[in-house]
Amino acid sequence: MNTHTPSSRIGGLHKLAVSERIARLAQFAQLGADDQTLLAQTGNLPAETADHMIENFVGTMNIPMGVATNLRIDGRDRLVPMATEESSVVAAVCNAARQSYEAGGFVTSMSGTRMIAQIQLTGVSDPQHARLRILERLEDIRSMCDACDPVLVKLGGGFRDLEVCVLDTRGGAMVITHLIVDTRDAMGANAVNTMAEKLAPHIAQWTSGTTNLRILSNLADRRLARARCVWPLEAIGGAEVRDAMLSAYHFADADPYRAATHHKGIMNGVSAVVLATGNDTRAVEAGAHAFAARGGRYASLTTWEATDRGDLAGTIELPMAVGLVGGATKVHPMARLALKILNVGSAEELARIVAAVGLAQNFSALKALATTGIQKGHMALHAQNIAMMAGAVGEEIDRLAQVLVARGMVRMDVAEVELGLMRDQR
Ligand code: MEV
Repeated sequence: MNTHTPSSRIGGLHKLAVSERIARLAQFAQLGADDQTLLAQTGNLPAETADHMIENFVGTMNIPMGVATNLRIDGRDRLVPMATEESSVVAAVCNAARQSYEAGGFVTSMSGTRMIAQIQLTGVSDPQHARLRILERLEDIRSMCDACDPVLVKLGGGFRDLEVCVLDTRGGAMVITHLIVDTRDAMGANAVNTMAEKLAPHIAQWTSGTTNLRILSNLADRRLARARCVWPLEAIGGAEVRDAMLSAYHFADADPYRAATHHKGIMNGVSAVVLATGNDTRAVEAGAHAFAARGGRYASLTTWEATDRGDLAGTIELPMAVGLVGGATKVHPMARLALKILNVGSAEELARIVAAVGLAQNFSALKALATTGIQKGHMALHAQNIAMMAGAVGEEIDRLAQVLVARGMVRMDVAEVELGLMRDQR
């Protein structure tokens, strides 16, 4: 046996051609010819494109993309692409949307498309004076920021506002500047980060302090996407189901342990659309969780109420920093295709659709949890994964999955035995 551990110190791996890089990796991890062939199959993302997207590219990781049906958003029917590895996520949105379709579906809105960049200033003995010195430079700051991105300004975006606060920290007083910038159809990270880096030396000079971090905030609370929807009492199965769902919401809103899972479900929907469109899932997730805790307590991103008719009314509001230009949205062919399917004209339109999907997802999760539990529906879909893992192919997959569900035992060991029996019977 070879006990020699190969070194991970590989200088210049990024400079090698992709095939050479794969060969180096194969050497390190003792990968066979099949593994290398798998790495070389990049599917709908050409290797040349992927190689320019990240460092040390060696392969792609394909995730299934489905389309959510039945969605009616702001009076318009939509098919929404969702990229997810979790079996019940697309079905959950389709079901929630079906139950609200006849009643009109979802109504959405947005608070704007403004992002915040933060500049951290330390080492000032008179932070309150420093704060005012910065605020006095509003017009200089506006012109310096706008000069960083004339294209954005031409498209109707650019610097909008300035906020400066004195922050009391473990490391003493800090003066924090917020540049508030309308980034329009861009997610905006590059635009605002450039502005913050450009401004920082001036802020240091005006205040005689030292600037440290210059970076956007993912708590994009000037970019809130909102959606609301009413599910008729008859469509959801009566007052008992509604009240159980309301009680589930009250639980989530009062308890962070439950709220985390409640939001995991919401993000199942949100992140799937964000990913399908090549947007930054981590940015949206970080924003959502920070926004949920904005009141000093981690609480629900959705609200649920009974209307005067007794129907179930849901709302969602969360930061939604997504764009149509820049990054993978433009470069990844599937992201471009997803945007074509969605047929959205602006980042705002996309953000509003994502919010509606998040609300739909939460509806389905609460309904399942408050009635049959999620395992029944989840297992029906998960059974197909188990069937494939057990070695089923082609039509065996559905047949075996059905057997597992009928037996109420969606387990690998059972799947292997049943697959053997199925094949013997042929
Ligand atoms: C599973 O991926 C998501 C749920 O746990 C969400 C929830 O509990 O609300 C079902």
